[in-house]
Amino acid sequence: MFKLDGKIALVTGASQGIGHAIALRLAAQGARVVLAARGTEKLESLAEEIRAAGGDALPFSLDISRAEDVGSRLQQLPADYADIDILVNNAGITRDSLMARMHLEQWKEVLDTNLTGSYAVTREFVRGMMRKRWGRIVFVSSVVGLMGNVGQANYAASKAGMIGLSKSLARELGSRGITSNVVAPGFIETAMTEAMDQRSRKEMSETIVMRRFGAVDEVASTVLFLASQEAGYITGEVINVSGGMYM
Ligand SMILES: NC(=O)c1ccc[n+]([C@@H]2O[C@H](COP(=O)([O-])OP(=O)(O)OC[C@H]3O[C@@H](n4cnc5c(N)ncnc54)[C@H](OP(=O)(O)O)[C@@H]3O)[C@@H](O)[C@H]2O)c1
Repeated sequence: MFKLDGKIALVTGASQGIGHAIALRLAAQGARVVLAARGTEKLESLAEEIRAAGGDALPFSLDISRAEDVGSRLQQLPADYADIDILVNNAGITRDSLMARMHLEQWKEVLDTNLTGSYAVTREFVRGMMRKRWGRIVFVSSVVGLMGNVGQANYAASKAGMIGLSKSLARELGSRGITSNVVAPGFIETAMTEAMDQRSRKEMSETIVMRRFGAVDEVASTVLFLASQEAGYITGEVINVSGGMYM
C-alpha cells in the first residue's frame, strides 16, 4: 500500500522537522525525492541517510521567499529530477507579534514565504502534472489558519491563504487527475514548538484532546497517504492532524 515507485517528489523545508519526516516517508515508499530548503548542509546528510537505506534523493538549495527567482531556480533541476509528480509545500516560518506591534516587514516575510512561496513553487510544476494527467499537491498549513491565534495574525493569514489556494487548485486541476489537499497540523514536537517555555507547553497540552503534542511522523504519514495512488479520489480537503485540538 502507498507505494510510490517511479514517482518523483519535491518537499520544501526538508532539512528539519516535519519536512524531514515527510521526505523520509516518501523515499521509504520508493519515491525519488528532491529535498529543498535554503541551507544545504542538513539536506546533504538527509540525502545520505535516504541513499544508505536504498532510496534516492537530491539536495537542492531553494529560497521560496524570492518568488521572482523560484521559477528560474527550479528550471536548474537536473532532467532526471525535474518532472515532479508529488509536490509537498511544507516550508514555513513564523514572525510572531501582537497586531498592534506587528511591522509590515514581519507581515511580508511570513506571507512571502508561506503563501507566495507555495504559489511560486506550485506554479512551476502544474503544467507538467497536467501533461501527465497525474499529480499530487499537498500543502502543510496549520490549524492556526482555521482557528486564528493570538500573536500570529500574519501566520494565520498565510496558512488560511494556503487553504484557499489548495481548494482553487483542486477545482482547476481535478479533471486532469491532479489532487490538491491540505494537512493542518496542531502542535507538533519540532524546533518551532521547542522554543515554547514549559508552562505554555503544559497549558497548550491541556487544550489538546490527546493531551500531548504530535510527532513529526504523524504528520508525515498523513502526507504520504494524500500523495499516494490510493488517495486519488480525495481533493480539496483539509485534514487536521492536531490530536483533536481543533475539530
Ligand atoms: N511545528 C509545529 O508545531 C507546526 C504546527 C503547524 C504547522 N506547522 C507547519 O509545518 C511546516 C514545517 O514546520 P516545522 O516545525 O517542521 O518547521 P522548522 O523546523 O522551522 O523547519 C522549517 C523548514 O523550512 C525551511 N525554510 C524556511 N524558510 C524557507 C525558505 N524561504 N525557502 C525554503 N525553505 C525554507 C527551513 O530550512 P532553511 O532554513 O534551511 O531554509 C526548514 O527546512 C511549516 O510550514 C509550519 O508552519 C508546524
